[in-house]
Amino acid sequence: DEDPRIHAIKTRIRVVPNFPKPGIMFQDITTLLLNPKAFKDTIDLFVERYKGKNISVVAGIEARGFIFGPPIALAIGAKFVPLRKPKKLPGEVISEKYILEYGRDCLEMHVGAVKSGERALVVDDLIATGGTLCAAMNLLERAGAEVVECACVIELPDLKVLQGKLLSPSVFMGNRL
Ligand code: PRP
Repeated sequence: DEDPRIHAIKTRIRVVPNFPKPGIMFQDITTLLLNPKAFKDTIDLFVERYKGKNISVVAGIEARGFIFGPPIALAIGAKFVPLRKPKKLPGEVISEKYILEYGRDCLEMHVGAVKSGERALVVDDLIATGGTLCAAMNLLERAGAEVVECACVIELPDLKVLQGKLLSPSVFMGNRL
């Protein structure tokens, strides 16, 4: 019973073999952005899911979470908080390191951007191992926020476990249940 909009969105995501490294099938959302209808449908699907859920924070993960997060935040009346790669934010930050398939990385969030008790949604374009989303959830939870769900446009595997909690993604949304 897939929403018919989802099929149309899928067809707009370009898969580029062997980018940026041999063996990687790169999921390119820039082709989705070129189609205003498909881009709007993508945002609308999330907005329909999260509107009225008392979410006050949308946290977007650099870089592609900065494309999908802000329109969702505006539509549901939440603030937008960027979770950035190291040494990009000018104020005081908290940091979370995480492991990538090749190497390590780190996400940072401004201290004071999120208050204790706020309800947060984490947005990114894609979940692969889930390491990036885990780091994002850790940042928000360290600030005292409750992560309601993580929303991704694309999920690669079928089932994920994040921080011991089941993540049961549909085609479009990685839902932290
Ligand atoms: C990609 C993607 C996610 C992350 C998912 O970002 O946009 O943020 O990888 O991978 P994971 O689930 O295995 O953690 P990338 O690391 O390529 O960074 P970029 O957006 O800055 O290019």
